[in-house]
Amino acid sequence: MEAFIRSLPKAELHVHIEGTLEPEMAFELARKHRISLPHANVEQLRRAYRFSDLQSFLDIYYAMADVLRDEEDFYALTRAYLRRVHAQGVVHAEIFFDPQTHSARGIPFGTVVGGIHRALVDAQRELKLTHRLIPCFERHLSSDSAMRTLEQALPYLDAVAAVGLDSSERGHPPGKFAAVFERARAEGLLAVAHAGEEGPAAYIREALDRLHVCRIDHGVRCEEDPELVARLARERIPLTMCPLSNVQLKVFDRIESHNIKRLLDAGLCVTVNSDDPAYFGGYLLENYLAIQRAFALSRQDLARLARNSLEASFLDAAGKRRWSSAIDRLLADPPAQQPR
Ligand code: HPA
Ligand code: ZN
Repeated sequence: MEAFIRSLPKAELHVHIEGTLEPEMAFELARKHRISLPHANVEQLRRAYRFSDLQSFLDIYYAMADVLRDEEDFYALTRAYLRRVHAQGVVHAEIFFDPQTHSARGIPFGTVVGGIHRALVDAQRELKLTHRLIPCFERHLSSDSAMRTLEQALPYLDAVAAVGLDSSERGHPPGKFAAVFERARAEGLLAVAHAGEEGPAAYIREALDRLHVCRIDHGVRCEEDPELVARLARERIPLTMCPLSNVQLKVFDRIESHNIKRLLDAGLCVTVNSDDPAYFGGYLLENYLAIQRAFALSRQDLARLARNSLEASFLDAAGKRRWSSAIDRLLADPPAQQPR
């Protein structure tokens, strides 16, 4: 099945570029900038990646982002991620970043976007891997701060496709950012939001009805509201799910308890994603493999997940058709079983 999953053309729609910072690169950048990290070496740092909930992860994730300082750092980070997932069969990546984490440290929006975007353009040329870029507003910060961040993004609309909403969910309902998202949409940007990861199903409804998002990131708690589940299915509103993340952050106690298969079977446009792969024990392929094993997914199931990821992407219609035909061909003629 691994060879089949690898050869499936897949889109990744939920990955925070700061969450792809591997400990090895963190130490390399810390040396470069003469910063000391709170752990002695790579092994000790990796051992600190044990989380009790979303906040316990975010505390480490934001602290580690401090090693990202110049445009070259963001370029190297993004390039490493793209090379890695290209080898896993990712053909299109929609990448989040957290501008406020960097502007708070005096790093301009243009430095961050400059490095990430250059790596994306290089990967499109060298690897034929297409992309969209999505700055996220951190919901634990004020709506004024989000609005200032949106204004910083306006000179870069050629490089930015949409806005997102992330960080600590509980106590920060989407409606807090209604005016910011309205302005973003008026500027021609699409919108997505994290909702229903740790927060209630009501936050998913609020993201849809007040922020007018076209996708929900995570959305696992939708099942608390059966009418909402029916609406998500009826309107084919995509959920970008992140199975390994949800287990690491204790949203589910183990992978077998995850609701992705149930929601897939209920006809929702669920997709598989990695969230923060350097912290959660796997990139996109490892997330597919984990749920394939947990639910004994068939090739048909896996192809449906890959098709959903392309349908839910911001690729144009021709790009979606092209990858859909590639999946048809793969199903008709799957790769030979690899010797074990
Ligand atoms: N949830 C919210 N904010 C985040 C996450 C997440 O899973 N990863 C990085 N920022
Ligand atoms: Zn996320």
